[in-house]
Amino acid sequence: MPENTPVTGGPDLPQRRRLVTEIPGPASRALQARKHRAVPRGIGTTLPVYTAAAGGGVVVDVDGNSLIDFGSGIAVTTVGNSAPRVAAAVAAQVEAFTHTCFMVTPYDGYVRVAEELNRLTPGSHEKRTVLFNSGAEAVENAVKIARAHTSKQSVVAFDHAYHGRTNLTMALTAKNMPYKSGFGPFAAEVYRAPLSYPYRDSGLEGPEAARRAIDTIEKQVGVENLAALVIEPIQGEGGFIVPAPGFLSALVEWCQANDVVFIADEVQTGFARTGEMFAVNHEGVVPDLIVTAKGIAGGLPLAAVTGRAEIMDAPHVGGLGGTYGGNPIACAAALAVIETIEGDGLIDRARSIEKTMKERLTALQQADPRIGDVRGRGAMIAIELVHPDTDIPDAELTRRTAAAAHQQGLVVLTCGTHGNVLRFLPPLAIPDHLLTQGLDVLAAVLEETR
Ligand SMILES: Cc1ncc(COP(=O)(O)O)c(C=O)c1O
Repeated sequence: MPENTPVTGGPDLPQRRRLVTEIPGPASRALQARKHRAVPRGIGTTLPVYTAAAGGGVVVDVDGNSLIDFGSGIAVTTVGNSAPRVAAAVAAQVEAFTHTCFMVTPYDGYVRVAEELNRLTPGSHEKRTVLFNSGAEAVENAVKIARAHTSKQSVVAFDHAYHGRTNLTMALTAKNMPYKSGFGPFAAEVYRAPLSYPYRDSGLEGPEAARRAIDTIEKQVGVENLAALVIEPIQGEGGFIVPAPGFLSALVEWCQANDVVFIADEVQTGFARTGEMFAVNHEGVVPDLIVTAKGIAGGLPLAAVTGRAEIMDAPHVGGLGGTYGGNPIACAAALAVIETIEGDGLIDRARSIEKTMKERLTALQQADPRIGDVRGRGAMIAIELVHPDTDIPDAELTRRTAAAAHQQGLVVLTCGTHGNVLRFLPPLAIPDHLLTQGLDVLAAVLEETR
């Protein structure tokens, strides 16, 4: 396929894995060489095939290869790439107006997204929503709001946490390389508490793990100083760690009793990804503030903080905002995403993807002791790869398996503090035959690496 040939994405793109060149092919390699000359090396590349079109469950590259997508652009295109309602809503909005700045002359789309998030997020209390551009920006603002509300400064994040790459969110993020190394000093008054990690906690129940975290916080921070606790209900970059039942609810209870704002970072887990609209719903947990981004707008940059009205209204007039936050095009996309999730029953689809993936991966695990753990919820599933017998993380095997999958036309991502977790985030629009074929490819490359 010659460079710049327009190819239409969306669900009508042929849903097949098809390799017509080596991976990456010549057109991608040429583009990657240009990238090296034009873009700093700090922007890494997971898989250097350059995208020409994407939709349903495939990414088509500039060489004409069609790859199975188990990445969704890191959990963003949950409703599918160029999903029809999103594409139509964006096109209509671009025709009407592209920007005025919501803080200058506002518009209906922003207010409707806020109303929808107030409706969809857990809890029947009165809520408010403010919109931003990225997950990190929204997490930072959730902390600002919590500090304004409590008149306290300290913030606690957890082991293995990932909350972004801005200064405050780097401080909240746990892993040094590649996210933090050399970029300090980091924001002050950020502390870390131990997480519940069932695979590595040897039988520690959720409430006990919460007690351990609370002890650390009480001893090392003090509730009189603590504004907020920020947690991913299922950790994303940290390794798709699902805390033991009762961990989150015990933390929420403790926060409520101590005037500490409980902030759920649902940037990766939110918007139907885990088989509920939000991952906290699995635990019946109602956060004070909930942060969303990624899957919220089908690929357009949008993020939000939604929460209790009395907390959200704490900052003074003009204290929150930004030029682009809640851009009208991104808002139109978000409304179309919500319509798609509800109209197409995508929460049920996420559950059926979980069933297919877990059945297959558990069967692989039974025959392969290098698969230490199979975990996750909905279409957010991972395997943790270890050295058999010792359970020591095997980052090298993980890297080799991901690379071999890429060669076979399957987009997979790695994660985890120790780099030994293979994660699967297919779009909910992926057809069953591609889901199965992707798992076949994975099984074959795991076999090859034995
Ligand atoms: C849980 C979580 N929080 C925050 C972020 C940061 O979001 P963004 O990359 O949009 O700034 C991410 C991104 O991966 C994330 O997974």
